Amino acid sequence: MPPLTTLFPSLALFLLLLLSSSTTSNAHNITRILAKHPEFSTFNHYLTITHLAAEINRRETITVLALDNAAMSSLLAKQFSLYTVKNVLSLHVLVDYFGSKKLHQITNGTALTSTMFQATGSAPGSSGYINITDLKGGKVGFGAEDNNGKLDAVYVKSVAEIPYNISVLQISKVLNSAEAEAPTAEPSQLNLTEIMSKQGCKAFSDLLKASGADATFNENIDGGLTVFCPTDPVIDGFMPKYKNLTASQKVALLLFHGIPVYMSLQMLKSNNGIMNTLATDGANKYDFSVQNDGEVVTLKTKVMTSKITGTLKDQEPLIVYKIDKVLLPRELFKPVEAAEAPKSSKSKHKAADAPESDAPAESDPADVQTADNENGVVGLDGGRLIMVSLSLCIGVLLI
Ligand SMILES: *[C@@H]1O[C@H](CO)[C@@H](O)[C@H](O)[C@H]1NC(C)=O
Ligand SMILES: *[C@@H]1O[C@H](CO)[C@@H](O)[C@H](O)[C@H]1NC(C)=O
Ligand SMILES: *[C@@H]1O[C@H](CO)[C@@H](O)[C@H](O)[C@H]1NC(C)=O
Ligand SMILES: *[C@@H]1O[C@H](CO)[C@@H](O)[C@H](O)[C@H]1NC(C)=O
Ligand SMILES: *[C@@H]1O[C@H](CO)[C@@H](O)[C@H](O)[C@H]1NC(C)=O
Ligand SMILES: *[C@@H]1O[C@H](CO)[C@@H](O)[C@H](O)[C@H]1NC(C)=O
Repeated sequence: MPPLTTLFPSLALFLLLLLSSSTTSNAHNITRILAKHPEFSTFNHYLTITHLAAEINRRETITVLALDNAAMSSLLAKQFSLYTVKNVLSLHVLVDYFGSKKLHQITNGTALTSTMFQATGSAPGSSGYINITDLKGGKVGFGAEDNNGKLDAVYVKSVAEIPYNISVLQISKVLNSAEAEAPTAEPSQLNLTEIMSKQGCKAFSDLLKASGADATFNENIDGGLTVFCPTDPVIDGFMPKYKNLTASQKVALLLFHGIPVYMSLQMLKSNNGIMNTLATDGANKYDFSVQNDGEVVTLKTKVMTSKITGTLKDQEPLIVYKIDKVLLPRELFKPVEAAEAPKSSKSKHKAADAPESDAPAESDPADVQTADNENGVVGLDGGRLIMVSLSLCIGVLLI
């Protein structure tokens, strides 16, 4: 393929741009959808700062019950903590697809549907369901199941529908639910560095404090945070390499060990794929992929693979896992061609860590992602690369 791109540089660029725009529109983006409608700006803002937007974008089949700015004002007037607002809003995200048409054609005129509040395990017991009922005069009522049969809101209009991926429907009022509104333990009182220090991750915790990266971790706790901490012996073995990094590289490496959303083990298992981290500052930067290996959850970068070996703390919105290797981002370490590491944990560690060189991984021509970045196009993974190649062939055939 490379010769084609040199022969037809503008065609190649055109096709790449076409493709990259089509791949970004395939994955829906609730922030972008709502941005076109200023009457939902407050709702949109809160989806972002509670990290629910990321969660919504990750799901393949979802319905968002959008609240306009007036409805949001009435919710915010209750002065809930951000974490409670998150629970209430997650009750407005249905983990099923309801287009406006389906809404009016519910079997037997009434249904209970599961929400993100329920699906993420935030809801106690069997709460977190929404009752949708077709009412007289073509109206559709919505109410939380734990609301004594009261349907607080009615359907107003369809804001956006991409069957059967995402539907955004405006409803008239906030859905009241005692369970979603229940006061929750003040999450910011969770002391992350203390939790880690006391449970075998003191070395990692000390690095967070020394580098100042702990501030970024702490800021993210309220909205949901997952931390992967390499245990003390792992960090000890890594220190020579760590010391070689510049101050900003150290911070990036540490931030690479957090993701700004609460992910239980179950959620990690069912959400295999690319994860953005606290170090991510653009598309395809400082991310890793989560993959199940049977019951074991692994975290893979282009450089190495780490395993989750235990849970230190699981108290929504914070979850802290132990991992058996330091996560090495491809931005800082070169991928190794070497196959499986030997068994002993010490040599395993050595084999997994890429040989370091002065040249950053970014200049490695073997790295597909960065090679594409040089063309001014977002990074492409293997699958997309094949698609690019295919569309190049098609493009050439068309000429
Ligand atoms: C819906 O989502 C699936 C899976 O992510 C994707 O393959 C498909 O292209 C999406 N459909 C639309 C219309 O965006
Ligand atoms: C979604 O769209 C917003 C606004 O256009 C953008 O800032 C954000 O990065 C997008 N998110 C993803 C995951 O593409
Ligand atoms: C609809 O009502 C009928 C009769 O009451 C019942 O047999 C059936 O299971 C109901 N369907 C659903 C989806 O609730
Ligand atoms: C939904 O609420 C209505 C009104 O309270 C009630 O009649 C109906 O049985 C409920 N539907 C379900 C499936 O619980
Ligand atoms: C966490 O606890 C330690 C003492 O164990 C304290 O020095 C530190 O300030 C606390 N951090 C936060 C964010 O409260
Ligand atoms: C640290 O960097 C130097 C110079 O680039 C290199 O020679 C050395 O092997 C590196 N040490 C480790 C432990 O990676």
